[in-house]
Amino acid sequence: MHVWAVANQKGGVGKTTSTVTLGGLLADQGHRVLLLDLDPHGSLTSYFKYDPDGLQKSAYDLFQQGKKIPEDLPQSLLMDTGHERLKLIPASTALATLERQVSAQGGMGLVISRALALLWNRFDYVLIDSPPVLGLLMINALASAEHLIIPVQTEFLAIKGLERMMRTLQMVTKARKNELPYTVVPTLYDRRTQASVQSLRLLRNSYPDHIWNSMIPVDTKFRDASMAGMPPSMLDPQSRGVHAYNVLLKHLLERQIDHRQRDKRPGEV
Ligand SMILES: Nc1ncnc2c1ncn2[C@@H]1O[C@H](COP(=O)(O)OP(=O)(O)OP(=O)(O)O)[C@@H](O)[C@H]1O
Ligand SMILES: [Mg+2]
Repeated sequence: MHVWAVANQKGGVGKTTSTVTLGGLLADQGHRVLLLDLDPHGSLTSYFKYDPDGLQKSAYDLFQQGKKIPEDLPQSLLMDTGHERLKLIPASTALATLERQVSAQGGMGLVISRALALLWNRFDYVLIDSPPVLGLLMINALASAEHLIIPVQTEFLAIKGLERMMRTLQMVTKARKNELPYTVVPTLYDRRTQASVQSLRLLRNSYPDHIWNSMIPVDTKFRDASMAGMPPSMLDPQSRGVHAYNVLLKHLLERQIDHRQRDKRPGEV
């Protein structure tokens, strides 16, 4: 099972859109995919027409059980998405109260790692949608991931926000005691605007080793897909936006292979 977190401390940069589009494309390829909503706003949950205010079961239950998660709990939280191989663990608004309740207790940074360990044979990929704030939920997402995807809107304020995310990443890397590989993904690119063109250039200069060398364009089909409640590739596989995410996915899968090669010990095949 591969776990990818999608995070950025800036709001509205395309985190949820990236999670659902990449997840849909992985499922189209035949993989069994879990989308995990860790944002108390529950945008990913609402995307699939579930109500984060009225859910009986959600990711919140995992945190309530905390250190000793019953073996069958994660499985019992899985919800359908309309795509046969794509499942969802939804967020409920109760997640917003977590910070206050549990931050005093130690050892809560690995709740999601422990929960996903119980689903290890059930899924090939898990994509985690994180809230745009640094806190227990984002820490859990970063602690359980093997790769971090950072969508960044191609505009100047968003690039400033990225610096904050980089500091968080440094802190988490120290705590994990191993590196968390990451990919910066330029989003909402509009080539007719100077702001997009110039900020993409700035991003490429600032993060030359970690930036994906293409970009996700503005495409109204994403809004149509969210209104329809289905992954964009199900609604319109030929759209420009889906095409761009497909190229991104190819890049991420290639990087995954690169990392595995690099992590191999001498003598290992
Ligand atoms: N490439 C795109 N083209 C057009 N619209 C987009 C694109 N990416 C995202 N959007 C739209 O922009 C809005 C914000 O996107 P999204 O919800 O994915 O961002 P987010 O980072 O998850 O936001 P939040 O921080 O609030 O969770 C949504 O209405 C979404 O449909
Ligand atoms: Mg979101």
